[in-house]
This record gives sequence, C-alpha cells and structure tokens, in this order.
Amino acid sequence: VKKVLLLAAGLALLACFTLPPASADPAGKELVDRLGCLSCHSLQGKGGRRAPAWDGVGARLTPAAIQKQIVSPRGRMPSFAQLKPEELEALTQYLAGSK
Ligand code: HEC
Repeated sequence: VKKVLLLAAGLALLACFTLPPASADPAGKELVDRLGCLSCHSLQGKGGRRAPAWDGVGARLTPAAIQKQIVSPRGRMPSFAQLKPEELEALTQYLAGSK
C-alpha cells in the first residue's frame, strides 16, 4: 500500500511541473491593467471599443502572432516593445489562454 501511495504522490508532483500554467495568469492580468490595453481592447464585454475584443484571441492567433502584435503591431495600436522579456511572456500567456 505504501508503494502505491508513493507512486501516486510522485505522479501528482510530476503533474504539477509538467502541466501548462493556468490560463488566467495573474501577472499577465496585472500587466494588462497597468498598461491600459483595455482602453482599446475588451474582454468579456468590459473595456474599450477601439480595438478587436480579446475574447477567443488565443484560438484566433498563435502565441507568436500575439507577441508580434505587442512588439511591432499592425494597425492603430501603439508598440509595447519596451516591455521586459518576462513581461512580454506573461502577457502573451495571458492572451493565448483566452480561448
Ligand atoms: C490605442 C489603442 C490600443 C491599445 C492601448 C492596445 N491595442 Fe492592441 N490593438 C489595437 C488595434 C486597433 C488592433 C487591431 C490592429 C489591426 O489588425 O488593424 C489591435 C490588435 C491587437 C491584437 C490582435 C487582436 C486580433 O484579434 O487580431 C493583440 C493580441 C493586441 N492588440 C494586444 C494588445 C496588448 C497586449 C495591449 C496592451 C499591452 C494592447 N493591445 C493595447 C489597439 C490598441
């Protein structure tokens, strides 16, 4: 019985490390609030109307395309190329999780 328990604990631990991060990345959300993305974009009906709504953006665009739009945007969107790599990553993860 002990062996089985150990195995189960091991598997659970492994799952913690290998599962992708939760889609609602709190660091990403905090950045979105701080950078004012939602003055143009909206999510679940909250936010601006000057840019496409973010609902389902993770299904529409690849993470690479999302990242590209943040750093060197097309259309009437300011560039956020000044972000630190880890901030860019958090933002991208956050948006990619909106499916
Ligand atoms: C001043 C308004 C404005 C702000 C602020 C803004 N955006 Fe945008 N964004 C736009 C517009 C306009 C587009 C559409 C560009 C096009 O395709 O013509 C866009 C497109 C996008 C897209 C692609 C959406 C799609 O469905 O194709 C992403 C992703 C995105 N923005 C992320 C961000 C992030 C992240 C921030 C904050 C760091 C941000 N935007 C801030 C105006 C803005």
